[in-house]
Amino acid sequence: MSQLLDDAAVVARVLQHIDNATTDLGEETWLEPVENYRSWERFKAELELLKHLPVPFCPSAALPESGSYVARAAAGTPIVAVRGESGSVRAFRNACRHRGMQVAQGSGTAKYFVCSYHGWTYRLDGGLHHIPHEDGFPDLDVSCHGLVPVQVTERHGLIFVTQDEPIGEGALDGLNDIPVLLDESQRVFAASESESELNWKLNMESTLEGYHIRTTHPESFYPYGYDNLNVVETFGRNSRITFPFRRIEKLRNTPADALDVSGKLTYVYNLFPNVTIAVLSSHTVVSISEPVSPTRTRFVSYRLNNRLEKDAVADLERAQRDASFVADASGREDAAAVSAIQAGLDSGANDHFTFGRFEKAIVHFHQGLTESLRRLDE
Ligand code: FES
Ligand SMILES: [Fe+2]
Repeated sequence: MSQLLDDAAVVARVLQHIDNATTDLGEETWLEPVENYRSWERFKAELELLKHLPVPFCPSAALPESGSYVARAAAGTPIVAVRGESGSVRAFRNACRHRGMQVAQGSGTAKYFVCSYHGWTYRLDGGLHHIPHEDGFPDLDVSCHGLVPVQVTERHGLIFVTQDEPIGEGALDGLNDIPVLLDESQRVFAASESESELNWKLNMESTLEGYHIRTTHPESFYPYGYDNLNVVETFGRNSRITFPFRRIEKLRNTPADALDVSGKLTYVYNLFPNVTIAVLSSHTVVSISEPVSPTRTRFVSYRLNNRLEKDAVADLERAQRDASFVADASGREDAAAVSAIQAGLDSGANDHFTFGRFEKAIVHFHQGLTESLRRLDE
């Protein structure tokens, strides 16, 4: 069961904050050493941690039919996830068992994975199906040269991949904390990848608080929203921040059973550690921050129409308009802010960053990261 508030309770709490000029507060503050954003040693430990956690790899909707696949690097490892003939999803280390070439690139639909180097061919279940001129490999046991599987779990509309043995007993139980975030009515209408010169955690932090709204977004978000007025909830190592719009006032006298929060607030979920799911007015963005180096991050993002919508074409058009507004305005402002922070990391001004009580979800993120890295080390 999700521990998160329902929409009516979130709206009530937002209205209370509006009336009292308050916001949700964390219990603690947090000092994070700046060295943790710069050091290779720390970076390698974080990458290792990502391999031992169930991490969302893509939305289920990115693999809509039998044969649909997505191939990309996750925590520095090439992985391919594919929906098989039975409808269930498998994932493999994306490396040919002959000499290691990647057998799938990007995304698409396949009946087989054919290595583009010498043509070894694999079934969707990973089994080695064909070796050209097989007589050149007289002693090879085909049955043990299939693609190497990794653990995969499809839940809540997401495909989770765990590359190495999960840390701690019942590590996958953590997935039970997560509510259903995407359903079958949602389709991917855009997918993109890009890279930026910044540490992945700076990007995560930028999505986890509303304390910066007035100063960073004076003309994009602030005229429609509030400064430093958020509901901040944690569930397991994850969190959800509610960013209300001023239009939420319209819901003051709406009975709970008639409540529709769409367009009245944005929910931003952080699925620990490196995934953000933002439920915007008419679309949902799943964004994965893949660490490439201490100073470089690859962003993988999927845009889906929101759920419970009736007119698919109109919904899709609205979702696309909505997507371009958000990407243009606030996205640029947040990206500029985190790039400037990255540029200042080597300035020597700070030994640590101080996260205050308004930045509760960031404190929760760093507490979770510190604790998970400690357990990985045990
Ligand atoms: S590396 Fe794949 S067939 Fe040779
Ligand atoms: Fe922002």
